[in-house]
Amino acid sequence: MAEVVFSGAGKVYPNGTRALSSFDLHVHEGEFMVFVGPSGCGKTTALRMTAGLEPITEGEIRIGDRVVNKLDPQERDVAMVFQNYALYPHMSVRDNIGFGLKMRKVPRAERTRRVEEISRILGLDEMLDRKPRQLSGGQRQRVAMGRAIVRDPAAFLMDEPLSNLDARLRVQMRAEISRIQREVGATTIYVTHDQVEAMTMGDRVAVLRKGHLQQVDEPQTLFDSPTNLFVASFIGSPEMNMLEAEVERAGDGIADELVEAHAGAGGTGPGRPRILPARHAWARAGLAQASRSRYSGCFAIHAEE
Ligand SMILES: Nc1ncnc2c1ncn2[C@@H]1O[C@H](COP(=O)(O)OP(=O)(O)OP(=O)(O)O)[C@@H](O)[C@H]1O
Ligand SMILES: [Mg+2]
Repeated sequence: MAEVVFSGAGKVYPNGTRALSSFDLHVHEGEFMVFVGPSGCGKTTALRMTAGLEPITEGEIRIGDRVVNKLDPQERDVAMVFQNYALYPHMSVRDNIGFGLKMRKVPRAERTRRVEEISRILGLDEMLDRKPRQLSGGQRQRVAMGRAIVRDPAAFLMDEPLSNLDARLRVQMRAEISRIQREVGATTIYVTHDQVEAMTMGDRVAVLRKGHLQQVDEPQTLFDSPTNLFVASFIGSPEMNMLEAEVERAGDGIADELVEAHAGAGGTGPGRPRILPARHAWARAGLAQASRSRYSGCFAIHAEE
């Protein structure tokens, strides 16, 4: 287990596509960090650069006390779980989980001990002798995770590991992955484009857009104090209302006045901003920065000056 530190990390693919720009992020030891953002924003690229599957073209990535830029994937001591995890169909659950240890010539007794310990955490101990085809989708996904965790890597990298499970199973596996991560205590980077997944699983969430890190914070902070309109509109379900407004005056109580003004202005007619109870609105307003802090069901404005 180790920290993972990105310092000015950047990536330009050989065809000239820039996928990541001056990426600075400190993932603490044992932390569950989620990368979230729309398709193509660079999440997978950042993860593959960490794993050693893509060269780092700018800056550096450090895992523990080693800069890993020049290290081969197997020297980096990270384990990765992808969306399309391939289990060995002819091997039992036990052998699938223990395969990496066997390849590393870990003695049999130690191997058995590790596999049994991990299977217990994953709730797979009753099915160690089954083949993958005799398992449900969620159980197979857990075997894939077991195979990664059993090696006791410095960091655990997951790229949309739940995206090919059905909706119910996905919700269940989210909770399981969080539990397993806490129990094992492994430093984890988890990639998803699903903001609900990000907000429910991460200790902290890093929001990316077009290769740029927008904000990294605890879920509640992201929700309450989005740093810009992109984060504000990306985070939160249902989506936040956006209202154009001009700031003429700053100070306490302005949000109350605004809400009253809008309510007084006829409320929900066509073309009118609609202020929904229990939803949050974020006002974009000249120099003003908005937050959803105290005003549930309305909007608050803090002027920057
Ligand atoms: N091998 C490659 N060569 C050139 N460009 C690439 C390559 N792989 C990815 N890209 C580009 O880099 C950008 C980031 O891609 P990446 O796969 O990291 O996105 P992502 O955030 O994981 O998206 P998704 O949510 O769709 O998986 C995209 O514009 C993509 O088209
Ligand atoms: Mg991806």
